Amino acid sequence: VNLFVKNISQLVTVASGGQRAKVGRAMRDLGVLPNAGVLCVDGKIAWVGAMSDWDRTLPEGFAEIDAGGKVVLPGFVDSHTHMMFAGERAQEFAIRAEGATYQQIAEAGGGILNTVTRVRAASKKELKKSTSRYMTEMMKHGTTTVEIKSGYGLEKDSEIKMLEAINELKREEMMTVVPTFIGAHAVPPEYKHSRELYMKLLLEEMTPYIGKKELATFCDVFCEKGYFDLEDAERILIEGKKWGMKPKIHAEELTQLGGALLAAKVGAVSADHLEHISNEGIAALRDAGVVATLLPGVSFFLNHGYAPARKLIDAGAAVAIASDFNPGSCMSFSMPMMMTIACTQMQVTPEEALTAATLNGAAALDISSTVGSIEVGKDADLIIADIPDYKFLAYHFGVNHITTTIKRGTILEFS
Ligand code: NIG
Ligand code: FE
Repeated sequence: VNLFVKNISQLVTVASGGQRAKVGRAMRDLGVLPNAGVLCVDGKIAWVGAMSDWDRTLPEGFAEIDAGGKVVLPGFVDSHTHMMFAGERAQEFAIRAEGATYQQIAEAGGGILNTVTRVRAASKKELKKSTSRYMTEMMKHGTTTVEIKSGYGLEKDSEIKMLEAINELKREEMMTVVPTFIGAHAVPPEYKHSRELYMKLLLEEMTPYIGKKELATFCDVFCEKGYFDLEDAERILIEGKKWGMKPKIHAEELTQLGGALLAAKVGAVSADHLEHISNEGIAALRDAGVVATLLPGVSFFLNHGYAPARKLIDAGAAVAIASDFNPGSCMSFSMPMMMTIACTQMQVTPEEALTAATLNGAAALDISSTVGSIEVGKDADLIIADIPDYKFLAYHFGVNHITTTIKRGTILEFS
C-alpha cells in the first residue's frame, strides 16, 4: 500500500488538471514526464515528479520498484463489459466465419438469448468463478477498473443473481468493479408475444428491487430495432433514475434510432457503441456532456463498420474506448488491442486512444475524480509496460506488454 516507483523512463500521467474528461485537442495531451517517480501512500498517489526533484529519503515500510527502461501509465478503465456469462459462443463465431451475421444468429434464437439460457442455469458461485478468472487475466493485461453489466438473466431472480454476484466480486476482488443493471438487454423468449408485460416486469418489479437494494450504480438499455425502442428506453432510464441508478445506453449500434439524442435528453453519463450516430447525435452528446464510449472490438469482431471516432473527437465530444468484453460481439478484454483497432481503423491517434482508455473511461463511469490518471490524491492504480515508448502499446499488438499491475498501491501477484 506504500510504494515508490522510481527511475521511470517514461511516465504517462494523463493528468487532467481537475477536468472530468479530456475533449478535442486536449485528448492528445498525455502529460508525459521522462525519468520520473511516483510515490504511493495508503493506496493513493502522494507525489509525482522528475527523479531530479526527488530529494526525500524513503520512510521505512515502503516497497520500491525500479522502472528503469520502462513506461508507467494509469491502469486502464474498461467502462463497458458483459464479462459475467456462462457458456462461450465459439460455434456462433464459426458460423459467422461462414457468412452468417450477428443479427441472423440472434433472430434464429442464438446470440444474447443463447447466453441467457446458460446464465439462468448457472449458480451464483459458478458465475463468480468464471468472472473472477477473467478478471485476473484482465488485471494482467493492465485493466484496474471494470464495469460489469447484468442482462443475461432477463427474469427477476436471474438478474438479481447476476447483480449479487457482481457486487460480491466488487467486495472481494482487487479490481474496482462498477455494477450496471441492463434487464433491458433483450426481450426474453417467454415474453416474445407480450413485450409490454416484460416492460411491466422491468419497470414495476426489477428496477425498484435493484434500486432499493442498491445493487447497481447504472441502469442501461439496448436501444435497437427488435430490442427496445426509443420510447421503451426512455421509460426504463427515467425509472432507473428514480431509483438512484444513473443512465447509460447502448445506442445506434446496428441501426440509427436516435439513442444518442435520448442519451442527451435523459442526462446519460455515457452513450455507447454509436456506429450509426448522426451529426445531430454527435452535437447532442457534446452539448450535454455525455461521454461517447466507442467499442472498436465489436466492429472488428462483427465486421460491421466503425463509429465515427474522428468526427466525435473533432466535434469536441468526450470519447472513451472500452472492450465490451462478451461472448457474442467481442470475445476480448484487451484494452491495448482496442487501442490498436481504434488507431488503425478509426483514425484515432495513439495519444487519443490512451486518454480514451483511461481518464475518459473513468468519466464514463463518473469516477474520474478518483481513477483514470496519475495525479496526487487519486488511487494509486498504475501499470508498468516493458516498451520503449507508450506508442508501442497500440503499435506492437497481439502481445501483452504489461509486466506489473499496481492497484491502490499494492503490487498484484498472479500465480
Ligand atoms: O454490447 N449490444 C448488445 N449487447 C452486447 C452483445 C452481447 C452478446 O452478444 O452477448 C453488445 O454488443
Ligand atoms: Fe454492450
